Amino acid sequence: MFQKVCVRLLVTLTWLQAVAARPNFLFIITDDQDAHMDLWTGQMAHNTNVTNVQPPWGGYPKFIDNGYNNHHLGLWLQQAGYSTFYAGKLFNGHTINNYNKPLMSGYTGSNFFLEPYAYEYFNVTTTRNGRAPVSHQGKYSTDLLADTAQEFLDTALQQPEKPFFIALAPVAPHSWLQEVPTTRGGPPQVAERHRNLLQDYQIPRTRNFNPDQPSSVNWISRLPKLNSTVIEYNDEFQRLRLRSLLAVDEMVGRTIRRLEEEGVLDNTYIFYTSDNGFHISQHRLHPGKMCGLETDIRVHLLVRGPGVPQNAIRSAPSTHTDIAPTILKLAGVNITDKKFDGTPIELGIPKEPRSARLEHTAVEFWGVGLLESPYASPSNNGNNTYKGVRIEAEEYAFYYSVWCNGAKEIYDMKGDQGQLTNLLSPTHADKANAFRLYDQPLQAITDRLDALMMVLKTCKEKTCIDPWGALHPEGNVASLKDALNTTYDAFYRGQTKVQFRRCAGGYLLDAEGPLEFEAYNSLEFMQAPYDPDWSIRI
Ligand SMILES: *[C@@H]1O[C@H](CO)[C@@H](O)[C@H](O)[C@H]1NC(C)=O
Ligand SMILES: *[C@@H]1O[C@H](CO)[C@@H](O)[C@H](O)[C@H]1NC(C)=O
Ligand SMILES: *[C@@H]1O[C@H](CO)[C@@H](O)[C@H](O)[C@H]1NC(C)=O
Ligand SMILES: *[C@@H]1O[C@H](CO)[C@@H](O)[C@H](O)[C@H]1NC(C)=O
Ligand SMILES: *[C@@H]1O[C@H](CO)[C@@H](O)[C@H](O)[C@H]1NC(C)=O
Ligand SMILES: *[C@@H]1O[C@H](CO)[C@@H](O)[C@H](O)[C@H]1NC(C)=O
Repeated sequence: MFQKVCVRLLVTLTWLQAVAARPNFLFIITDDQDAHMDLWTGQMAHNTNVTNVQPPWGGYPKFIDNGYNNHHLGLWLQQAGYSTFYAGKLFNGHTINNYNKPLMSGYTGSNFFLEPYAYEYFNVTTTRNGRAPVSHQGKYSTDLLADTAQEFLDTALQQPEKPFFIALAPVAPHSWLQEVPTTRGGPPQVAERHRNLLQDYQIPRTRNFNPDQPSSVNWISRLPKLNSTVIEYNDEFQRLRLRSLLAVDEMVGRTIRRLEEEGVLDNTYIFYTSDNGFHISQHRLHPGKMCGLETDIRVHLLVRGPGVPQNAIRSAPSTHTDIAPTILKLAGVNITDKKFDGTPIELGIPKEPRSARLEHTAVEFWGVGLLESPYASPSNNGNNTYKGVRIEAEEYAFYYSVWCNGAKEIYDMKGDQGQLTNLLSPTHADKANAFRLYDQPLQAITDRLDALMMVLKTCKEKTCIDPWGALHPEGNVASLKDALNTTYDAFYRGQTKVQFRRCAGGYLLDAEGPLEFEAYNSLEFMQAPYDPDWSIRI
């Protein structure tokens, strides 16, 4: 997942206070999706092979089977001397039947929302510290979470010498689902006190809102324009999502007030993020979140805490695989021996060296493109397996994607943030032909991004963080700009292209297509003029 890192601090804090004691953490993650996996393990889906929300590809049983119950952030912090707490939804497939087979490790205190009732806003079932599940009929689940946060703080503050980590994972603004898996559901349910708020809100009518021309490729490009009935339904759907977030807002406010009253706020890092974005009427899409488009992959990350500059907004790409290393580093845990596919996010702490990851993020998805509306036709979104790479730099930005059936798309994210012009579509041949970056044509760019994707699709640890380094072991390429040097034209033209052998519902090696890439060796390649026809022959 790509996320625009947006670092913000509401109250000025002093750096000196922070070094005195190990910091506390309050981590809030709202829920649009399911696998919080990469957030806690710091690894990409192809490495955990927890690639979906449901068995056999994912869910709690797979997390357990793959050995991650002794390999995750909560446990590492606990081992480092933290009191650790988690309330809310942890995993899909974490149920009233398997919550104790085995119990989740690593938490001093917990209150997990359990399926099949995890998305019941007014009747959630939870397990408190591993005890038998209890249903909370009539209690709004986010308010239950807010109460639990206070109880966690009661416990944590009894041991002032021990730092704490508290994670709160409300289901809001996820759709309401009566029982998972289910066919009964709808927009999120909201607390009585918020029911009549935000009446005038409408989804912003951006250029990609229900556009006249279809978007993207495959099933997305075949969607008909939404009619006014559907648009009104989606606007109300979005109002309900926002109203459900008002209770989250109250929970955050109440928790922060308590931290302040107890005098620990200044030594607490607060993170606020979401597991993924959401589309609703953009690109003619019914509500959902399983696309690689910006609506779905870009989320906010708000951070305040010791040494984090106030009101700073950083637009450096980062992903949830960076969260575990970031928190462990702030907690003073030695992470050199941990196998992360991400790297600590630079939060603007003075004198910290710049992170190796400068401009890329990898996106990978396997399975079906679920849409969460009674108006969505369930017919044609079954082949939703794709890879994407998102580049964001000062002078250029792209999203490039290759799908399991061979469809490809690329957007110039500087000129076309709404992703309406796939430069690889024949419809936009004129724009594609005219496109230049550092005097290089579009084909030279897609050749580079394809090679980058080739590395990222199987990357592990260092190669995920520095994929250009894998392509250029001689060490002089660290960005797309460096790679666009014409010296490398022939190398990139000849690189094996990303393609799938078939559309599979999960990470099956025989469906993934070629996995090997060549690394550049300056002795083998001579400078050659660009031949635009070359790669088309592949
Ligand atoms: C609440 O959930 C429990 C299961 O935990 C179920 O037995 C009960 O019928 C539900 N109540 C309502 C009103 O749906
Ligand atoms: C961190 O751990 C590594 C490997 O386990 C070790 O070589 C290194 O000295 C440690 N660093 C510090 C600062 O303790
Ligand atoms: C609007 O579109 C939906 C979904 O395609 C359809 O079910 C509905 O009948 C349409 N309504 C009108 C008034 O055309
Ligand atoms: C996926 O694509 C294949 C071949 O392109 C097609 O045969 C199959 O019906 C598609 N599946 C779904 C669920 O759309
Ligand atoms: C392109 O790469 C060559 C070979 O590494 C190098 O000598 C040259 O300076 C590079 N050109 C630019 C503009 O960076
Ligand atoms: C990923 O998990 C699936 C389902 O358990 C399995 O079939 C597949 O072989 C695994 N993929 C890899 C690369 O191990």
